[in-house]
Amino acid sequence: MSRFRHLISIDDLSKDDIEYILKKADEFLEIAIKKKKLNLLEGKVLANLFYEPSTRTRMSFEVAMKRLGGDVINMGSVEATSIAKGESLADTIRVVENYADCIVLRHYREGAARFAAEISEVPIINAGDGAGQHPTQTLLDLYTIKRESKLERLKIALIGDLKYSRTIHSLVKALSLFNAEIYLVSPPSLRLPEDLMESAKCVETDLKQAIEEADVLYVTRIQKERFPDEEEYRKVAGSYKITAEMLRNSKAIVMHPLPRVDEISYDVDNLKNAIYFKQAFYGVPVRMAILSEVMG
Ligand code: CP
Repeated sequence: MSRFRHLISIDDLSKDDIEYILKKADEFLEIAIKKKKLNLLEGKVLANLFYEPSTRTRMSFEVAMKRLGGDVINMGSVEATSIAKGESLADTIRVVENYADCIVLRHYREGAARFAAEISEVPIINAGDGAGQHPTQTLLDLYTIKRESKLERLKIALIGDLKYSRTIHSLVKALSLFNAEIYLVSPPSLRLPEDLMESAKCVETDLKQAIEEADVLYVTRIQKERFPDEEEYRKVAGSYKITAEMLRNSKAIVMHPLPRVDEISYDVDNLKNAIYFKQAFYGVPVRMAILSEVMG
């Protein structure tokens, strides 16, 4: 019996569920590192439905499914499908559920994954819904923190676009379960929404103090695509950047969900602090754990 049928929001998981998935990811880590294959999901098909661009989430779900012995079908770009002719999300889900045993959905509209789960006969995994949530990213972020730092008594700085980043929104909720101390660093117009700020132990600060205090610096890109107008984006573009010089005396690990634009200087990449590419890799064992849970 699986712990959850769909994975839509991090709120749907208890601390115990999260710890269970992270433990399960440990069991798949060696397979992911050695690029081996199991037959746990042989005969099962995963459908990737991405209405927004993706590199890591789509590809790591695909490789996770293949490492578990399953098959993957990809919708491809929206322009190449019948969505371009006006087909609704509901109709698309009702068609694809007949082709696949599980659907991974990324959509530009907040709430789209929840809606899909309500009508789908097969499990839906939310791969990002607008500025809403990105729960599988959060699970891989927690896995990275657990392996590369510590989850208990954690001090973490969330830096950048805290308003529109769905990665941040999911992560704050999860961190509250682990009682983390959260430092918030953002341009004033990109502050964390009030309700999220109240849901966890948050304090607003500046970059200097965050670097001095935190065990983890979690940096985000400004989500240009979510701004209602280009002028507002231009006012904050390039307003913060982590450089190697700033990290000279810091032991904090630097995470980023990626893609990066200009918020982490390339000279950080060679420092021990830089964990973001390893973080992207951890998406494979974590997504193997999620897929085996909903389809295994
Ligand atoms: N972190 C993340 O969601 O990356 P992609 O947009 O490339 O999937």
